[in-house]
Amino acid sequence: MNDVDFRKRAAARAAVDEIEPGMLVGLGTGSTAAFAIAALADRVRAGLTIRTVATSRATEAAAEAAGMGVLDMADFGRVDLAIDGVDEIDPAFRAIKGGGGALLREKIVAAAADRMIAIADASKCVARLGRPMLPLEVLPFARSFVADAVAALGGTPILRTAGGAPVLTDQGNVLIDCGFPGLEDPAALAHALGQIPGVLGHGLFLDEIDALYVAGEDGVRLYE
Ligand code: 5RP
Repeated sequence: MNDVDFRKRAAARAAVDEIEPGMLVGLGTGSTAAFAIAALADRVRAGLTIRTVATSRATEAAAEAAGMGVLDMADFGRVDLAIDGVDEIDPAFRAIKGGGGALLREKIVAAAADRMIAIADASKCVARLGRPMLPLEVLPFARSFVADAVAALGGTPILRTAGGAPVLTDQGNVLIDCGFPGLEDPAALAHALGQIPGVLGHGLFLDEIDALYVAGEDGVRLYE
């Protein structure tokens, strides 16, 4: 295991230690969240009783493969605890997420969580957001309209593709990755993106995150 994965696993394990018996836990998506799923599965095998919901089909499959049952988020209005990775996070716990394309379900679970914990290796921590592309989940019908609206906001829209075809989300929508260099006012940008018809979700998580476990050279730290 390389240093980055070692740190992702350390942050994930620390967050999973917060899970208490009987909790409804929201499982995130991505490589850091995968370490949390593995750590939680270890605790379940050791006798912990919890319920889970998943932020993506991939996470649902991973949790089930690890021996955990996964419930349908559609049946729940709140979640006790959610644990998820980030693409980038600033000192005010504002984050960019959605590199794995699961931003819409991730935001719903994060918003529903009494406590939303971000887990990250230290390379994800920045003084100011804006380095990674900002993903949007977009209704396919609105793909070109949204791309033009993003350009009008000063962004550079790129349709996410794989093998020459658009990547489709778990909901059957497309992803538009947007370059917004500098990202001077995340709240204003989030508001503007939310006003564009056809944008079903964006990867700016500005209010959802309550705590952050970061793993660096000197071990894991909790910020809250
Ligand atoms: C998926 C996400 C991920 O949490 C984010 O991309 C971080 O991924 P990783 O833990 O693999 O670095 O938002 O949609």
